[in-house]
Amino acid sequence: MKFDLNNILRTNIKNLVPYSSARDEFQGEASVFLDANENSFGSPLDTPYNRYPDPLQYVVKKRLSEIKGVPPQNIFLGNGSDEAIDILFRAFCRPGIDNVITLPPTYGMYEVSANINDVAVKKVPLTVNYQLNLEGIAEAIDPNTKIIFICSPNNPTANSLYREDIETVLANFQGLVVIDEAYINYSKQKTFIQELTEYSNLVILQTLSKAWGLAGLRIGMAFASEEIIGVFNKVKPPYNINQASQELALDALHNVEKVNEWIRETIQQRERLSAQLALMPFVEKIYPSDANFILVKTTDARAIYEFLVQHGIIVRDRSKVILCEGCLRITIGTPEENTILSETLKKFQD
Ligand SMILES: Cc1ncc(COP(=O)(O)O)c(C=O)c1O
Repeated sequence: MKFDLNNILRTNIKNLVPYSSARDEFQGEASVFLDANENSFGSPLDTPYNRYPDPLQYVVKKRLSEIKGVPPQNIFLGNGSDEAIDILFRAFCRPGIDNVITLPPTYGMYEVSANINDVAVKKVPLTVNYQLNLEGIAEAIDPNTKIIFICSPNNPTANSLYREDIETVLANFQGLVVIDEAYINYSKQKTFIQELTEYSNLVILQTLSKAWGLAGLRIGMAFASEEIIGVFNKVKPPYNINQASQELALDALHNVEKVNEWIRETIQQRERLSAQLALMPFVEKIYPSDANFILVKTTDARAIYEFLVQHGIIVRDRSKVILCEGCLRITIGTPEENTILSETLKKFQD
């Protein structure tokens, strides 16, 4: 059976007449804008922000399109990836009826967003080596399963999932397959963006919060078919990316070289820190990482976490998370920060 978006789109969204903003209705050249009840005099800032921003962020998307090799019509920008995740639930999942599949241990927002939207979550844990349990996923799917969330490289395990396994899910599931590639810039795996023409049920999430160093601007990206992006645009708040974020993101997107340099340095530091930690007596295992963090299995995660806090260093205790017993998740810092971390850890007595 071929994937048909109309089979999974909620009826209220199919019938929705979206909000039409002043700037949606007028396109072209003009010099007097008296259509949006803005303050015509200006704003009390050096940069004028008195006008509403472009609702579809065309200039930013055009630049992203050059970088990512995908047309602007296949790109959605959200107020963080979290907005894209929330829109997926609101557009495709009927509260109290539909369900989604998550693959723990994974990024927590899929489940939180499901709970906010009153959508059930079926959990199919990864295997012990943090790969997809394909049989488990196949068994969990029912006629009301609308979305499968796959995070690769996965947070908090840091590894990439086997590409063939992801393709098996894409080819066999009649709902949406969301691949969250928040950490793809650090990965040896290539993005799934090039597969968009192959799979009409594919949604790829990326973000400017990680390798691009813009977590404070809140810009998440979704890449999908024009039809799916059309649904996102219909449901999103009209001006979801503010003017300052659009301008700053555009500037940053012209500085690819700096970002690539940091990616190389982060990967170097990841290998250096992993080698240092591996020598410590309380470190049992360092999982292979394709991201800007490492998952470290220790003899006593809580005690190490608290010891580090006392020394002003914050890492993430993931020891209560399924399949992550004894584990700390450590973001790769600057060379100086990593040195402080390893020198401090040398003083820990277990
Ligand atoms: C897998 C994954 N996806 C998405 C995000 C959040 O991205 P954003 O800052 O764009 O909301 C995170 C942040 O930690 C993440 O780990």
